[in-house]
Amino acid sequence: MQRMVATWGAQLRWAALLAQPQGPSLDQVLICGMGGSGISGDFAAALCSAPVRVHKGYGLPAWAANSGTAVLAVSYSGNTEETLSAVEAARAGGLRLAAVTSGGRLLEVARSEGWPLVEVPGGLQPRAALGYLLGGVISLLGGWGISSIGPNELNAAAALTDSLLDKASAARLDASRLAASLDGRMVGVYGSEGLVAPAAQRWKTQINENAKWPAWWALLPELDHNEVLSWSSLSHITRDKVGLVVLRDRDEGARVAARVRITAEVMDRDVNWVGEVWSQGELPLERIVSLAVMGDLVSLELARLAGVDPVPVEAIEELKQKLAEEPS
Ligand code: F6R
Repeated sequence: MQRMVATWGAQLRWAALLAQPQGPSLDQVLICGMGGSGISGDFAAALCSAPVRVHKGYGLPAWAANSGTAVLAVSYSGNTEETLSAVEAARAGGLRLAAVTSGGRLLEVARSEGWPLVEVPGGLQPRAALGYLLGGVISLLGGWGISSIGPNELNAAAALTDSLLDKASAARLDASRLAASLDGRMVGVYGSEGLVAPAAQRWKTQINENAKWPAWWALLPELDHNEVLSWSSLSHITRDKVGLVVLRDRDEGARVAARVRITAEVMDRDVNWVGEVWSQGELPLERIVSLAVMGDLVSLELARLAGVDPVPVEAIEELKQKLAEEPS
């Protein structure tokens, strides 16, 4: 997994070279995908100013069926049943379709029906292919006039990623220190609405899948209206068994910054506020990717501390296998 994560920069550079498919100008897109593929939609939604919504489930959301929205299906394997079910619903509704995939049934259908398609290199775990998947999504959204991210931004994010992943980088040291403070604790990843939100989600899912470790994510300001209350009743457990990390970005706004400080003060009695991680770089793509790379490093360090191999996802595969045997 270390080797796969080390290709983040190369993946973004690969995406910078993609020819942008030219399509009609659209005003909204629905991205359908699960897990390590679907998160590329959350990243894209946070980066685009036009409406990009993300659907993670069977079929399509009720609003989408007759909306005329375009549907962009993202599945690294191309065989994820929820994503294929969304594709079937979109085909049945006559919606415009496009795909990002490395193979499977999705690639077959996209090719045979001539959809706009980005075929990404295979052979990785889906969650380790986020540079390819996000790059593919950005390219297709660009062709529809939904994203304005181009090769310069992708190359800048690639360079920053390479520097963060350098063997001697300060980022690696920070990630190791943070992981050491989180050792033995369930991890809460806090962020704020906007650019940071999908990074918080990605931290949670990478800690789950790489370290096989419980984690959740929550966002400010919403968590101040509920989760802030949740620490007192079980504080005898949570004080020692939970660690909270806050992801920060310079554009989070003064009120959110005040909330981070005051929320930490209010919660401090009952739970451990372990640390904060700031985004790096100038451009939104750099900043969101820098947070995701830090999450990958922390998750790998937690895997090392737990003595587990980050690559296999046996429980996910068992589930997919058992579901495939169920009558549909
Ligand atoms: C495994 C991983 C999973 C998959 C998910 C969907 O590395 O990240 O979360 O992404 O099971 O599969 P795909 O991405 O093939 O559609």
